[in-house]
Amino acid sequence: MNDERTGLKKGLTNYGDTEFSLFLRKAFIKGAGYTDDALSRRVVGIVNTSSGFNPCHGNAPQLVEAVKRGVMLAGGIPIDFPTISIHESFAFPTSMYLRNLMSMDVEEMVRAQPMDAVVLIGGCDKTVPAQLMGAISAGVPAIQLVTGSMLTGSNKGERVGACTDCRRFWASFRGDQIDEQEIAEVNNQLVASVGTCSVMGTASTMACIAEALGIMLPGGASPPAVTADRIRVAERTGAQAMAMIEQRLTPDRILTARSIENALRVQLAIGGSTNAIIHITAIAGRLGIGIDLDRLDALSRETPVLVDLKPSGRHYMEDFHRAGGLPTVLRELRPLLHLDALTVTGRTLGEEIDAAGPGFPQDVVRTAANPIYAQGGIAVLRGNIAPGGAIIKQSAATEKLMEHEGRAVVFENLEDMAARVDDDALDVTADDILVLKQIGPVGAPGMPEAGYIPIPKKLGRLGVKDMVRISDGRISGTAGGTIVVHVTPETAKAGPLGLVRTGDRIRLSVSERTLSLLVTPQELAARAAAAPVARIDPAVRGYRKLFLTTVTQADQGCDFDFLRAAETGEMVPKPRA
Ligand code: FES
Repeated sequence: MNDERTGLKKGLTNYGDTEFSLFLRKAFIKGAGYTDDALSRRVVGIVNTSSGFNPCHGNAPQLVEAVKRGVMLAGGIPIDFPTISIHESFAFPTSMYLRNLMSMDVEEMVRAQPMDAVVLIGGCDKTVPAQLMGAISAGVPAIQLVTGSMLTGSNKGERVGACTDCRRFWASFRGDQIDEQEIAEVNNQLVASVGTCSVMGTASTMACIAEALGIMLPGGASPPAVTADRIRVAERTGAQAMAMIEQRLTPDRILTARSIENALRVQLAIGGSTNAIIHITAIAGRLGIGIDLDRLDALSRETPVLVDLKPSGRHYMEDFHRAGGLPTVLRELRPLLHLDALTVTGRTLGEEIDAAGPGFPQDVVRTAANPIYAQGGIAVLRGNIAPGGAIIKQSAATEKLMEHEGRAVVFENLEDMAARVDDDALDVTADDILVLKQIGPVGAPGMPEAGYIPIPKKLGRLGVKDMVRISDGRISGTAGGTIVVHVTPETAKAGPLGLVRTGDRIRLSVSERTLSLLVTPQELAARAAAAPVARIDPAVRGYRKLFLTTVTQADQGCDFDFLRAAETGEMVPKPRA
């Protein structure tokens, strides 16, 4: 039943003789012991991101085996292949610098190799968006599988998990509240198994986003990495990939303006990572769809945070799974979702919510009538230092700091901050506002998660836990605090954040959605006229040059400009009728 364009016959190497190309291809793969029967089947590629440098994907080999089982039970032939694998803590200068490179790897290898569908095994923060971006551009039926969350550990009877608790304990250590022995003991407990971070960080958020988009099996986001549920999801994912071939379920049929709006809604309701806004924007950009930040803010005002997980709440991902996972959230959000959005099962999101059943009593996912936070997790700010917008995760901020005016204490770049932030001579009080420049997409480069500016040690010793912090960088999805990030345009692109000086007054009003530098327009214009023009070092070469010359700003998803699809003019979220 295969025709010329399916299975092993797809994308033949160009020798000018197609019959010879196929003859040669079969000869080589038969060297691995395949029979003609096996090679006549539909081929499901499996993106294998197993890497010794990526413990978040430590269970990938087991998942590959289970996916293969599913494909073969459905009559296909599975073939796994490697791509770049990125772990947050093993990527210099920062994982975001490599996300687009991984997306290009995925796109080109899916396009270049003969496969009728592809299973994307991702997990750690940047891997899932990279895979979805690449798969959209490749245009082959694709289904997302994630490695699943790690287990939690225990420190002196207290449950701990990466990485909200990593930051909390480290802040206590910096503030001399715990000693070297305890911080070393905690270090053994924060990551209790392979898998992705155990809170609603970027990895968990992107897993939920993939499920909300319909590009993952229903219920696929939450099973922890080391559970039987996770392995079963993998097997079913393999079988579903085969079904998707027959239904020609390419990513553009599933990922539409309506499913992207569903994903934004879910991002807000789960108190998800701010990074997900950039990733969803990049994913939408591969479809020619734009994200309207002001409408996103309006969406946030009407979407409560329902999921009581760290860093916005109390629980961990394994609790979320026991509470029913994302279907529990989707059931609660039902009136706000586009229920006709198609999923990888060939059924609509509404049909899948119905199929998930009525739910059961639990205390992790709240009802819409009793939310953990009345509005969505994200607020979009505008002002004279963020004309292109900025983001604050209001659900994880300190309430009294969300309306705050203070004196700016400015760090010109990461090196300046590292040199001075812990200096007892630093002129800083708890009421000041910390500003960090030059950590945007181009500035650092790669927009590192350095927006979580450490509380100066001398204030940490006094028990100060939070301050207003502003930067053009990002924060980890596992971080909490009154932290404004994604200031656009960035300092390195002559954004007005670069004009802020120590001693200036800044006013943050989350209720008014404003971020204002309290200097006159004339003074700002004079500073801009005197500012040096930033240039790329002519000695820069290779991927770094590609990155610096083509990366877009946060409001465009930080994708490379040449990877985005032609704009369709469609913007999401759309105004409500
Ligand atoms: Fe991989 Fe957190 S470091 S998910």
